[in-house]
Amino acid sequence: MSWIAPPIHIELQIGGAIRDSIELRIGGAIRDKGKSIMKVVITGGGGFLGSMLCEALLKHGELTAPSGNRQRIESIVLLDALFPSLPLDPRVTRQVCEISDREAVFDAVGTDADVAIFHLASMVSGECELRFEDALRVNLDGGRNVFDAARAAARTTDELPRVIFASSIACFGGDVIADSFSDSSKQLPRTTYGMTKTICELMINDYSRKRFFDGRSARLPTVIVRPGKPNAAASSWASGMFREPLAGIDCPLPIRRDQRHPMTGYRTVIDSFIALHELPETLLGGDRAVGLPAHQVTPGLAEQVLAQVAVERGLKIGKIVDAYDDRIQGIVNGWATAIDGSRAIKLGLPQPPSVQEIVHQYLEDFGSVT
Ligand SMILES: NC(=O)c1ccc[n+]([C@@H]2O[C@H](COP(=O)([O-])OP(=O)(O)OC[C@H]3O[C@@H](n4cnc5c(N)ncnc54)[C@H](O)[C@@H]3O)[C@@H](O)[C@H]2O)c1
Repeated sequence: MSWIAPPIHIELQIGGAIRDSIELRIGGAIRDKGKSIMKVVITGGGGFLGSMLCEALLKHGELTAPSGNRQRIESIVLLDALFPSLPLDPRVTRQVCEISDREAVFDAVGTDADVAIFHLASMVSGECELRFEDALRVNLDGGRNVFDAARAAARTTDELPRVIFASSIACFGGDVIADSFSDSSKQLPRTTYGMTKTICELMINDYSRKRFFDGRSARLPTVIVRPGKPNAAASSWASGMFREPLAGIDCPLPIRRDQRHPMTGYRTVIDSFIALHELPETLLGGDRAVGLPAHQVTPGLAEQVLAQVAVERGLKIGKIVDAYDDRIQGIVNGWATAIDGSRAIKLGLPQPPSVQEIVHQYLEDFGSVT
């Protein structure tokens, strides 16, 4: 009588997801014979937009993989220097990671799966103006780490990871501010933050041209209404002038009341990140930076919208109070005041709803005083 070995079942734990078949290593990344694992990496995943993107991707459930086929998202890895809230879903892993630590970024991105990367980790504009060396380390070196890790995760030049980079309209500026800036405007940033975003956009274009990865930059207007407390962004007042009055408190306004500024809503931005990821590469051409459409908002308009919303919802709101700050107004003077988002619209990216609707969305998502 001969002994028959029982069948062997091998389970491998990769990035939180379990795969159960034997793998082949091709061009640096591991794939199995039949199917491969889809892993999403969100840098800045503990932040405002990164954490909302994570939630949206969990609901979305799938993304286009490097193969061009849609695949179920098996795991989402959030990288951030800090995480304010607790984990919410077994598919999500939170890794405390300094983005300028090249080895940590390479480890997190890995070569073990079909990867999609959303690079959002960044110092904000006000901080970059005050801490130049740190701005280069975090926004430039950190960006390069992410881009090189994406390159290392590529299998072949036909199956490239998609990389979405959160850029900013701070790429625009100049001695004379044009009436409106479009995807064909020259980038003349007037802040260190804008300079780092511009360089990362150019790197995305070049890495994509070289077939290192398939990159796309979403050039974001200021995103309203950011919940929580004011931050160190020079545009912090843009959310504050809605958020604080809606919470029943007065908001100090560091800029002129007629200052025009391009703004959009956070729901639209999250939808745009995902839509930009999903766009066929053939539609994009060599310039991978797409300016998202924006409303031109002034504090005066914000006041009118707040008054309407207050009536509609029966809210007792705070006031926008003049607290002029030369430093902040000086930075804002070098920024774009209007954005022509027609290329994004042509590509099928979403447009923001009215400012009033954005405020209603904020109240639905984050609540207010009554
Ligand atoms: N919110 C906006 O109005 C706006 C406008 C234009 C562009 N953007 C860009 O969108 C992205 C997301 O913005 P957000 O509003 O969610 O900002 P956020 O500040 O809430 O999130 C950025 C995250 O990056 C993390 N981070 C900063 N330095 C880091 C480091 N050294 N290592 C690891 N993580 C680090 C922070 O901890 C933070 O959680 C950023 O790249 C930002 O520049 C935002």
